[in-house]
Amino acid sequence: MARVTPEAIGHMKARGERIPMLTAYDYATAQILDATGIPLLLVGDSLGMVVLGHESTLPVTVDDIIRHTQAVVRGSKQALIIADLPFGSFQVSPEQTMRHAVRIMKKAAPQAVKLEGGVRSAASVRALTEAGIPVMGHVGMTPQSVNVFGGFKVQGKTEQAARALLADVAALEEAGAFAVVLELVPAELARLVTERASIPTIGIGAGPHCDGEVQVLHDVLGLFPDFTPRHTKRFGELGQAMSAAVQSYMREVRERAFPTDAQSAKIDPAVIEALRKEPQP
Ligand code: KIV
Repeated sequence: MARVTPEAIGHMKARGERIPMLTAYDYATAQILDATGIPLLLVGDSLGMVVLGHESTLPVTVDDIIRHTQAVVRGSKQALIIADLPFGSFQVSPEQTMRHAVRIMKKAAPQAVKLEGGVRSAASVRALTEAGIPVMGHVGMTPQSVNVFGGFKVQGKTEQAARALLADVAALEEAGAFAVVLELVPAELARLVTERASIPTIGIGAGPHCDGEVQVLHDVLGLFPDFTPRHTKRFGELGQAMSAAVQSYMREVRERAFPTDAQSAKIDPAVIEALRKEPQP
């Protein structure tokens, strides 16, 4: 089965077809998500928080991204897989960005990478796209800069900040990005950006007017107990389902209701009989 291409994502915007995207971090989950036909899966550095339990995405390494991207690529056939460039892997220079992106492409084989920043990252985006690596941009609230923003706060609220956001998206477009994530941006600003941009905008906390939407899988499935961001919605309560299943498992183990013969292997009774007859030391 052929995978979704960056070009096909552009065509979805042209047709006015909404573009759903989710994060994925492991093989089994990638299989389930991919079978739904979702076009975009992101191995986001959010894995630092929802999988590894860090307080921010900053500790995530290139090796973390490689390990999880390998699993997601192995578990999927049709989705376009995007690997996030983690904090410290691209901020220094386009050369540094290339080195890390090439390593990720060679070792994990995603179809694209994502990196944070607009104008400030445009030279790196250009280097990657000219080298044949499709890039998704990410502007607005960029979690790797959480210490500058002083928290996960809505960005682009003043005229100056809104203009800067428009310039960021234009710079990414100009540098060859095939799409851009708008995170925590006022809905009407996201609408304006989406109208002006020729590339698809993928919102998260950016209202209903973007070309697509991305969410962290654990948030929409109710799998992250620490907190639920305001911009998300729980489409399932898998944390509760998991807890109930584990309670049932513990009860059946304690009550000797599980495992039964149905889950057990057989042996010739004569073998056991012979062993039982042997005198014990
Ligand atoms: O790391 C991530 O999951 C992300 C999305 C929230 C866009 O960057």
